[in-house]
Formats: sequence, structure tokens, C-alpha cells
Amino acid sequence: MEVIIRPTADAAADLVARIIAKELRGNPNLVLGLATGRTMESVYARLVRLHREEQLDFSLCRTFNLDEYVGLPAGDRYSYRHYMNQHLFMQVNIDLRNTHLPDGMADNLDFECARYEEQISRCGGIDLQLLGIGRAGHLGFNEPLSALRSRTRVKALAPLTRAQNAPYFDSPDQMPLRAITMGVGTILDARRCLLMATDTEKADIVAKAVEGPITAMISATALQLHARCNVVVDELAASDLLGSDYYRWIFENEPEWDAFR
Ligand code: F6R
Repeated sequence: MEVIIRPTADAAADLVARIIAKELRGNPNLVLGLATGRTMESVYARLVRLHREEQLDFSLCRTFNLDEYVGLPAGDRYSYRHYMNQHLFMQVNIDLRNTHLPDGMADNLDFECARYEEQISRCGGIDLQLLGIGRAGHLGFNEPLSALRSRTRVKALAPLTRAQNAPYFDSPDQMPLRAITMGVGTILDARRCLLMATDTEKADIVAKAVEGPITAMISATALQLHARCNVVVDELAASDLLGSDYYRWIFENEPEWDAFR
């Protein structure tokens, strides 16, 4: 795992977008794993800008989102399909047929979860998985006690997640209580993981995820097992990290990051 600390949330989003753009330029057929949430909005805004101003090409790219609420149709304005269409897909030259989210309206949810895993495999697996982190440490909707080898499945949302996401809905009782989410094992199968977190409210959980013991209580700690994982944070989200001077030194000195400084 490598932690990169940027001075501001904008600078963190810039870096994340540039890492994605570099991967996409290097492999136009990239299989990209995507996340939703407030943190990702600034990343998608930058990808849209890179598409418009620097011709970043999404035409051959395939995408798989981490999760979708159970019981919300794709056209519902609170669905993650709607979020993705609005923030990214409709604003770049991606072929919508190449964009995938689990179907939270499927009659047979278990079958849908297995189908989603199969679809990812058929595309050759995920090359780069973009991740946010919830205040309780979830990746996707892998809530506390998610097995570290779990695959795509239905999860009941934890109380903290409900509190975190309820403000997005007109009234809290509109919020579904379950979601389909890629499993922790599904995420760990991605060839590269890229987690972004900003703001003081994430400082404690970022420190636990990066420097704490691996535990199914905090699914993000499983990223410590991943061979190629970058965690990009702003100064505020980095404020509880013990090793921040070391992480800063690596970013400033390792040739791998020359093009990104
Ligand atoms: C949603 C997802 C979640 C969010 C996390 C952070 O697709 O993957 O794990 O990334 O809840 O959300 P924000 O950015 O809104 O704090």
C-alpha cells in the first residue's frame, strides 16, 4: 500500500483523475471499477474536463460499479445508475452498453449477484478499481463483518451508513436498507486499487484502514493485503496517520511519481 498526501481535496481529486487518465491512455480497453458518493464527484468532474479539453477517450473503456441499492430502478434519481449517468457516463464518449451496475430490481438477487461476478470475469477482471471509504470503513457496501473473501452479494446497510447516506434522499424512509455490493474478495481481485478520502471526518477511519490491524469489522483494512493499492488523501484526512512523513518522502522521491508531482 502507498499513501499519497495532497495539500487539499482538489489536489487529491486531481491526482486521482490523472492516475485514471494515465491508465486509460495506456490501455484504451481498460476495465474500470467505479464508486459513487460525494468524494467521487470531484474526480468525475475532472475526468469530464480531461475528456473535453484533452480528448481523454472512453470509447473502448468498460466499467463496473461497486454497488447499487436494492429496490431502486435504474431511472430513479437516487439510484447509483442515475448518479453515474449524471456525473460521468452522459458527459463523456463512453458506450453505455459497456457500463455495468448490479440490477437492484432483479427478481432473483442471488442470481443477479452471480451474474455480475461472471460478467466481470468475462471482461477479464477489473484493471483499476476506484474506491471511497465510508465513515465506518466500508468499501462499496461491505459493512462491518463482511468476510474478507466475500463476493458480490446483498448486504444490509449498517446504521452509520444509513446516517451517512440518508441526507441524499428527500426523506430518510425513502432510503433502501439493502444493497448489492461487490465483495471484499471481488475488490481485492482488481489488478490495481485506488482509494480516495478527504476531510477531517475520514481521518480516524483512514488511519485505521491504513495502519491498523486487518479486521472484517473494517473492510478497507483488507486493502493492506493488496499488492498494488494507492490511497490518496488530503491533509485533513491524513491528520491521524502516524507515518505521514515517510509517506510524503516516498511521493516526493520515488521515480514512479515523477510525472504526478
Ligand atoms: C459507493 C461506495 C461507498 C462510498 C463511501 C464514501 O459506491 O463505494 O463506499 O465510497 O461511502 O462516500 P462519500 O464519498 O459520500 O463519503
